[in-house]
Amino acid sequence: MAHGGFCVARAGGRVVFVRHALPGERVRARVTDDSHDRYWRADAVDILVPSPQRVAAPCPHAGPGACGGCDWQHADLAAQRRGKAEVIAEALRRFGGLDAVADPEAHPVSVAPAAPAGRQGESGARRGPVRVVVEAVPVGGRGSRGDRPGGDGDDGLGWRTRMRFAVTAQGEIGLRASRSHAVVAVPDCRIAHPLVAGALAGRRFPGAEAVEVAASPSTGQVAVAVYPAAAAPGEVVETVGERRFQLGPDVFWQVHPGAPEVLVAAVRDALRPRAGETALDLYSGAGLFAAFLAVDVGPGGRVVAMESDVAAVAAAARSLADLPQVSLRSLRVTPATVRGVVGSGSTAGRVDTAVLDPPRTGAGPAVMAALLAHHPRAVAYVACDPVALGRDLAAASAAGYELVSLRAFDLFPMTTHVECVALLEPHVIELIVTR
Ligand SMILES: C[S@@+](CC[C@H](N)C(=O)[O-])C[C@H]1O[C@@H](n2cnc3c(N)ncnc32)[C@H](O)[C@@H]1O
Repeated sequence: MAHGGFCVARAGGRVVFVRHALPGERVRARVTDDSHDRYWRADAVDILVPSPQRVAAPCPHAGPGACGGCDWQHADLAAQRRGKAEVIAEALRRFGGLDAVADPEAHPVSVAPAAPAGRQGESGARRGPVRVVVEAVPVGGRGSRGDRPGGDGDDGLGWRTRMRFAVTAQGEIGLRASRSHAVVAVPDCRIAHPLVAGALAGRRFPGAEAVEVAASPSTGQVAVAVYPAAAAPGEVVETVGERRFQLGPDVFWQVHPGAPEVLVAAVRDALRPRAGETALDLYSGAGLFAAFLAVDVGPGGRVVAMESDVAAVAAAARSLADLPQVSLRSLRVTPATVRGVVGSGSTAGRVDTAVLDPPRTGAGPAVMAALLAHHPRAVAYVACDPVALGRDLAAASAAGYELVSLRAFDLFPMTTHVECVALLEPHVIELIVTR
């Protein structure tokens, strides 16, 4: 399994990136793209020798030429998670220059989180290769499948609480086919959370371009926005622990119901913020991490949150109004804005910790260098793209920081996507002092 939802095969001396296959299988594949000299793309259409990890896709819309929303409906969840661990380990090796392996024990079949990789002792020094294991995350919350008698909380279905659908010429909701603009009708998307499915059941949207849905399993609320928009989209309240966040479908929020709590816990555990400290939250969205870091640093501390989406900053301002130690900056994260975030020159303030949660492209080496030039004692990097994470870890290494621990969460079952939380700390070495 490779980054991007395909497997790697060879035919006639050429690499073939093949979808709908699994490692070890012998397949007949239809070539879908032969425009490149060095590689082709193909869809497996006949499985001649199946992998033991192959299952019948639970979704009738998955398969060659059909809906492109899911990549791995045909693999059991253990194989999906092992594949994601391999993808992360390869990205860390190739782009991060790190010694990393998928954990050979990584075969989680329960929803209980496995032990995190790394974090060996308070000194921060990591020994041996980074061992990558992808942890299952329970769906939970109101209306989830796990609530139902006999329901199975870890079947990889019914988790996605935020979805943007395209619309067919007949007004049905749909998703794009893989690498295509064609819209495939998916009136019954299997990964959609039951609250999303319930809000759209039986509905048609003739003439609409897109339909966006946000469901909050913590409160049971659902907002539906139809584009082009006739009115401002409604909002839902999300609760995370004791805190409430109010936002519309147009503002970024994690799409897996278990994600906010799991990621906040992983970030707090990594950073261990102390009262009175200054923390940065880069790419802060609706203020999820800023809110909890603010509680940890307390009224005597400070959290500076930077976000470019005006609607997200407005949502954060409402939800974090009781936390005066949070300073929300409505601006783009750039090397210059990060350099100046706590003032500059002789009046510059200190940065103790930072969390960054950039979009798929990553923060980039220049932003990493600007952030690490503040010399934070710990940085939690929340990454939705292992390749971008690998590149940014290489930049961190050049700036004297090292990967201390890595956790990976299966927040996007049935798809190739995976979320990582990496802890970076200043590089430490062991010495024998001779004189
Ligand atoms: C992956 S989301 C993370 C949001 C938040 N940390 C959360 O978990 O809810 C990335 C966020 O970065 C914002 N963003 C993208 N590029 C940005 C930039 N150059 N500067 C600031 N924010 C940016 C997006 O609007 C989005 O809210």
